[in-house]
Amino acid sequence: MAKRMDLEMEKSQFTTNVMKVSRTELEDGMPEALQSLKEAAKLLKSGELVAFPTETVYGLGADGLNADAANKIYAAKGRPSDNPLILHIANPEQLYPLVKEVPKKALLLAKRFWPGPLTMIFHKSERVPLSTTGGLDTVAVRMPDDVIAQKLIIESGTAIAAPSANTSGRPSPTRAEHVYEDMSGKIPAILDGGAVGIGLESTIVDLTVDPPRVLRPGAITAKMLCEVLGEVISEEHKELSESEAPKAPGMKYRHYAPKAKLIVVEGQDAAEKIIRLAKADQSFGKKVGIIATKENMEKYRKAWGDTKAQIKVIGERSDEESIARNLFAILREFDRSDVQMIYSESFAGEGMRTAIMNRLLKASGHHVIRQEL
Ligand code: TXA
Ligand code: MG
Repeated sequence: MAKRMDLEMEKSQFTTNVMKVSRTELEDGMPEALQSLKEAAKLLKSGELVAFPTETVYGLGADGLNADAANKIYAAKGRPSDNPLILHIANPEQLYPLVKEVPKKALLLAKRFWPGPLTMIFHKSERVPLSTTGGLDTVAVRMPDDVIAQKLIIESGTAIAAPSANTSGRPSPTRAEHVYEDMSGKIPAILDGGAVGIGLESTIVDLTVDPPRVLRPGAITAKMLCEVLGEVISEEHKELSESEAPKAPGMKYRHYAPKAKLIVVEGQDAAEKIIRLAKADQSFGKKVGIIATKENMEKYRKAWGDTKAQIKVIGERSDEESIARNLFAILREFDRSDVQMIYSESFAGEGMRTAIMNRLLKASGHHVIRQEL
C-alpha cells in the first residue's frame, strides 16, 4: 500500500507551470519576454525537466551533460532506457566538445541546414554521459531554428537533451496543450510558444558511416542532402526484419499509435474506397473517423451529410506542409473521441511526403489497403 502511494505521489510530483512566451517579443529583444526563459533555464541548470517548442515538435528538455537529469527524461516519458536522446545546441561551436571528430561532410551539412530540422549522429566525446545516448558511443546533435529553443539553450549554458515531449508511444506534441496532456504533474514547466511550424520530427542522418545514412526522414529530404553531399543512403521504405538491429534505436518501438485501429487507404479512388469501407463498418455498429484532404471533403460530405462519421481535414493534398503540420494533432484529437476505426487517405510520394508516410505508416502499424478485395 505504502509503495503504491509513493508511486501515486511520484506521478503528480509537480504542479506543471505553463509559461507563455512570445516569439515576436523575443525577436524584438524585449527583456520581459526573456523572463520565463530565464526561469526555465534555472530549472534546467538545477537538473529538472522543461518542455519547450522547436520548429519540428515540442521537446522535453534536460541538461544533456548531467546524467541524473537525462535519466529523468526516460522516467517522465516512460521511455526505454536504450533509446538515445538528441542533444540540442545553439551555435556550431557547441558541437566540438560533444563529439570525437566533426567529419567534413557534417560541416557541409551544418553550413547548409543549421539551424534547422536536421539531426546528425557523431562519435561521442567523454563529456556526453551514456544515459544521454542510451548506452551508445555515438551521439545525436541538432541546432534548432526556433528563437525560443535557441534562447533557452543559451540561457541554460549547456547542451539540452530533448526527445519529443510525448509519453512514449503517443503522437509527438505540436502544441503546448499536447505536452500538458502527457506531462502534467510529471514536470515543473512547459514553455508555450503556440503551434510549431513543421509538425514532424527532424531528419536524422548518421555521419559515422560513409556514405552517410538517413535514419529518419524529415523536412530536410534525402534529395536536399544529396545536393550537398553527392550521395546518401536512404532506406526509409525498407522494413527491418525482427533480427536486424535498427540503427536508430527509437525506430524499433511502437510509435504514434492512436487508440483506434488506423488503416491507410491508397489509390486514385481512395475517398470512394474509404466511404465504402467506413459505411460497412458502421453497419456493424462501429464508430468511424476519417482523415481527409480538403480536396476530397465534398465527397465525404455528400456520403454522410453532417452526421455519423467524424471527418477531420488534415490539410490540402497540394500543400504537403499543411498535412505534416496537422498529422499528430489529428491523431491526438481522435484519441479524445470515441471512434474505433480511422481511415486515412495516403500521401505517398517524394520529398516531405516520405516523412509524412513514415509517421502515418508507423501509426497504422503498416496497415495499408492497396487493392480492395
Ligand atoms: O525534431 C526532433 O528531432 C525532436 C525535437 C524535440 O528536436 N526530437 C525528437 O527526439 O524527435 P526523439 O527522441 O523523439 O527521437 C530521436 C530519435 C530516436 O529514434 C533515437 O533512437 C534516435 O533519434 N537517436 C538518438 N541518438 C541516436 C544515436 N546516437 N544513434 C542512432 N539513433 C539515435
Ligand atoms: Mg519521439
